[in-house]
Amino acid sequence: MKFSTIAVFATAAFASVYAAPNAIRRRDVNPALVPDFGVARGANPNGTGSCTGLNGILIPCSCPPDRDSFIGSLNANVNAGHMINNPGIGAPFPTGNSKGEQQARISTLLSTLQNLHGPGVGCPAVATVYGVLQQQINALP
Ligand SMILES: *[C@@H]1O[C@H](CO)[C@@H](O)[C@H](O)[C@H]1NC(C)=O
Repeated sequence: MKFSTIAVFATAAFASVYAAPNAIRRRDVNPALVPDFGVARGANPNGTGSCTGLNGILIPCSCPPDRDSFIGSLNANVNAGHMINNPGIGAPFPTGNSKGEQQARISTLLSTLQNLHGPGVGCPAVATVYGVLQQQINALP
């Protein structure tokens, strides 16, 4: 009786020790910092898998991805500190409004998009307005 009580406490203590660092380390991004793609998926399918992206440029009809699954991939990359599917590319996602912080975020958004399914395998920038946003951010004073 006494032994099993101790065992229960010990188990609970270990569980909290192992849960705590994870809870601290894992930081999901604020979805408000993830701009809308600005492009509709599946527009004007040409019959062989290509659809219309930004400015009529052809993109895969599977692009842009579902927003929730994209944010899931983004969180995985940000929490890992790099692109899961392309570890040489970092995944900073600062939350501030400085030019540098905005540049870091848009870069991580584009890298996540372009490495969604493998190294260099994902959706092109023109499946979203992110490339345009990046140019606007780079042009900030
Ligand atoms: C659809 O677009 C793709 C990519 O540009 C092209 O390879 C393919 O020939 C196009 N199909 C048709 C039927 O126009």
